[in-house]
Amino acid sequence: MIDPHGRAITYLRLSVFDRCDLRCLYCMAENTTFLPKAEVLSLEEMDRLAGAFITLGVRKIRLTGGEPLVRRGIATLIDRLGRKLAAGRLDELTLTTNGTLLARHAEALAAAGMRRVNVSLDCLDPDLFHRITRLGRVETVLEGIRAARAAGLAVKINTVALRGLNEGEIDRLIAWCGETGCDMTLIEAMPLGDFPNALRGRELPLPELRRRLETRWSLRPSDHVSGGPARYVEVAETGRRLGFITPLSGNFCDGCNRVRVSCTGALNPCLGREGAVDLRPALRGSKSDLPVQQAILAALRHKPQGHDFLSAGYEPPPSRRSMNSIGG
Ligand code: 5AD
Ligand code: SF4
Repeated sequence: MIDPHGRAITYLRLSVFDRCDLRCLYCMAENTTFLPKAEVLSLEEMDRLAGAFITLGVRKIRLTGGEPLVRRGIATLIDRLGRKLAAGRLDELTLTTNGTLLARHAEALAAAGMRRVNVSLDCLDPDLFHRITRLGRVETVLEGIRAARAAGLAVKINTVALRGLNEGEIDRLIAWCGETGCDMTLIEAMPLGDFPNALRGRELPLPELRRRLETRWSLRPSDHVSGGPARYVEVAETGRRLGFITPLSGNFCDGCNRVRVSCTGALNPCLGREGAVDLRPALRGSKSDLPVQQAILAALRHKPQGHDFLSAGYEPPPSRRSMNSIGG
C-alpha cells in the first residue's frame, strides 16, 4: 500500500471500542453518549479486517479505544492477532490503554506475543489524576503498570501536557519512569473531541515545556525512531527515552505510515481531517475479503498530505470525531 504521496502504509491503528471507563478532560465530555452496540464491528469482523490490511502490507497493528480492555471478549481478538504474529504475518502487535484493567490482562497480552504497551498517565498525584480523568484512581493504573512490567512487557507512558494542570508533575513523572524502567512520550493536546470546550487555554506547546525540562534534566538528542511522530531525547540522569509529539508546533506528516480504523469500520486516512471511508458494507456484504481490500485501497487514494490543524479557519471536527471514536 503506497499512498498518493509516496508513503508506504504499514501500520494500522484499530479502535476496538469507543467506550471507556474514564472521561479524560481532553478526550470526552462528561456525558458522552456512546455508539449503539450494533454499530460497532464484532470482534470476528475486526479480525477479518486486520487480515485484509495484513494482506495489503500492514506489518504492525496497534489496538486502541476508547479503552480496548473494557470490551468484553477482547482477549479473543488479541489471541487471534497473536496467531498472525506467530505465523510471521505481522511484525508487531501493541496496545494503547489507560491501564485500569491492565493488571487483569497483562499476562494474556504477553502470552499472545505482545512485547510492549502504551499506557496513558498524565500525573502521579491521586487528586489531580482524578480531576483530569474525572473517574480514575491512579493507584489502579500503577498496579496495572507493575503487572505489565512483571509479565515482561515494555511500558511506554503517554502524557498529554496541560497548562495549569499537570505541567508541574512532569519532572516527577520523568523521575518515576526512570525508577520503573519506562520510556515516556509527551503529547501536545490536539483540538479534537471535547478539548476545545473543556480546556481552552490549557494548550502547552512542548518547545516551551522542553526548555523548562532542560533546566533540570540533561536531554541528549537520540537518533531513536519509533516509526511514529515522536522525536526522542535520552534523559541522561535516568537513561530512559523521552519523546515529544508536537502535532501543532512541529508538523510530522511527511513520515506518516499509518491509517486508523474506527470501531465502526470507518477508515480514517488522517487524524486531523474529515473524509473517512466506511469499510463496513464491504465487510458485511461478502464473505470474501476482496471487496474489503478494494475499499481499503480506494480509501487510501484520498490520504491527504497532512493535517490542517493550523490552517486559517480550521474548525475542530464535531465531537463524534473525538479520540475515543477515531482511536487515539
Ligand atoms: N489531544 C492529544 N492526545 C489525546 N488523547 C486523547 N485525546 C487527546 C487530545 N485531544 C490521547 C490520550 C492517550 C491516547 C489514547 O490519546 O492521552 O494517550
Ligand atoms: Fe479514556 Fe483514553 Fe479518552 Fe481518557 S483519553 S477518556 S482514558 S479513551
